[in-house]
Amino acid sequence: MTSIKGDAVAGATRPSLDTVMAADHVAFSYSSAAGAHPVLGDISFTIARGEFVSLVGPSGIGKTTLLRVLSGLMQPTAGEVRLDGERVTEPPRQLALVLQDYSRSLLPWMSIERNVALPLRSAKVARTEVRSRTAAALDAVGLAGDSEKYPWQLSGGMQQRVAIARALAYQPEVLVMDEPFASVDAQTRFDLEDLVLRLRREFGMTVLLVTHDIDEAVYLSDRIVVLAGKPAQVADCLDVPLGPIRDQIATKALPEYAALRGRVLSEIRAASAARTDKKVG
Ligand SMILES: Nc1ncnc2c1ncn2[C@@H]1O[C@H](COP(=O)(O)OP(=O)(O)OP(=O)(O)O)[C@@H](O)[C@H]1O
Ligand SMILES: [Mg+2]
Repeated sequence: MTSIKGDAVAGATRPSLDTVMAADHVAFSYSSAAGAHPVLGDISFTIARGEFVSLVGPSGIGKTTLLRVLSGLMQPTAGEVRLDGERVTEPPRQLALVLQDYSRSLLPWMSIERNVALPLRSAKVARTEVRSRTAAALDAVGLAGDSEKYPWQLSGGMQQRVAIARALAYQPEVLVMDEPFASVDAQTRFDLEDLVLRLRREFGMTVLLVTHDIDEAVYLSDRIVVLAGKPAQVADCLDVPLGPIRDQIATKALPEYAALRGRVLSEIRAASAARTDKKVG
């Protein structure tokens, strides 16, 4: 594994490419009455325009915290985040975020259709376009027939699909998702993964995904960023040279796929073991 000390890990920052998002020596601590709780150490990496990057690491390491900092929901304790070269100080207009906790992301007093349309209305998109983009996004996630319902009338997996539809309808420059497919069945998960890949190709979207699912990370990504340590740092950055077109059966049967999967799994295991040792020691 690449050293996690010092400056950016090999392959984490790519100055030669068109950078859309950059984390530059980002650190973050939660503060409480008991004092500061450092969660993110010194994190540097860049994401190129149109790239699909997955962020993986053991539970509790700080993935959601990092996404919140990258999305401008929380300010880093040190370092900075840049989007299109501008320092991020609040959630940027060109970014859409699908949160891990879907139950808190939808407005219960609004129909599904209005929930999906809300960011488009705020962005002053023309009414007819709001309607067509909302309908297309709901259709894509298999909820065309549920548009008049309210979030509380849907299952957890359906609510999560509404949150994904809302982000897709917005057609953001950068789509940031935290475990977006965790609460749907396997077949729906595959369909949603392929949908995100297709929309990303169509709109040239950049995607940053947090996932616990190693298969998902390898299947979807151009690059995988592995977090380890306490506070968390970038432990490794792996290229996923499986080409732009992926197929749920053919891609997963490739020997390169199996090799990458094994490598990511062993790195996450090592990161988990290191955290457990720290707790015991
Ligand atoms: N609001 C908060 N206040 C204080 N500490 C927090 C807060 N949110 C998270 N933490 C702590 O920060 C650390 C990282 O949490 P985070 O949710 O970022 O992890 P994660 O990698 O996303 O985990 P998971 O994979 O389980 O979603 C944990 O120790 C957690 O207890
Ligand atoms: Mg999380």
